Amino acid sequence: MSIVVICGTPGTGKSALADALSRMGFRVIHLSKLVVEERLYRAYDKRRQAYIIDEERLAERMRKLADIDGLVIVEGIGAEALPPDIVSLCIVLTCEPFALRERLERRNFPPEKIEENLEAERFGIILGEAISNYGSSKVIVIDTTYREISDIVGEILDELKKRGIIQ
Ligand SMILES: Nc1ncnc2c1ncn2[C@@H]1O[C@H](COP(=O)(O)OP(=O)(O)O)[C@@H](O)[C@H]1O
Ligand SMILES: [Mg+2]
Repeated sequence: MSIVVICGTPGTGKSALADALSRMGFRVIHLSKLVVEERLYRAYDKRRQAYIIDEERLAERMRKLADIDGLVIVEGIGAEALPPDIVSLCIVLTCEPFALRERLERRNFPPEKIEENLEAERFGIILGEAISNYGSSKVIVIDTTYREISDIVGEILDELKKRGIIQ
């Protein structure tokens, strides 16, 4: 059983990529949906309009998932912080700030949220967390700025084959 995670700053294309993989038949879990549906949060942060994930319970849930046969792709904010022993590959998506700004504006993010996320992307916050949690050998980075989703899917399939995660 393998868990492959897709993480990255909001707007880097996690959900779009995961949806493409799901359409190809891969099992995909959208972390934000799971957290809400199964109430795997400690509280709701009104100011930031986000759930505060109960990391212990999420880890427990992920361990249960890891007992199932086959490959599961887990995408979303928080995917950079799952138990490293059950994750075989972590894909960190990135995006150049100018393009990330356009994507977030198109999604009608409030200006302060846009600035917060651009700052996080410039500092490579998610990448840093992913490497310190999973170790650099399990982390790959894909810059999505100038790339079609289908092209990114191709790179991921090659990587999964190379690592023996799929055949
Ligand atoms: N590779 C890409 N190139 C251009 N636009 C993209 C790409 N991937 C995603 N997008 C667009 O960027 C926006 C954010 O994508 P989304 O998948 O929702 O990001 P995330 O789930 O990481 O927050 C969406 O409007 C999506 O259509
Ligand atoms: Mg998303």
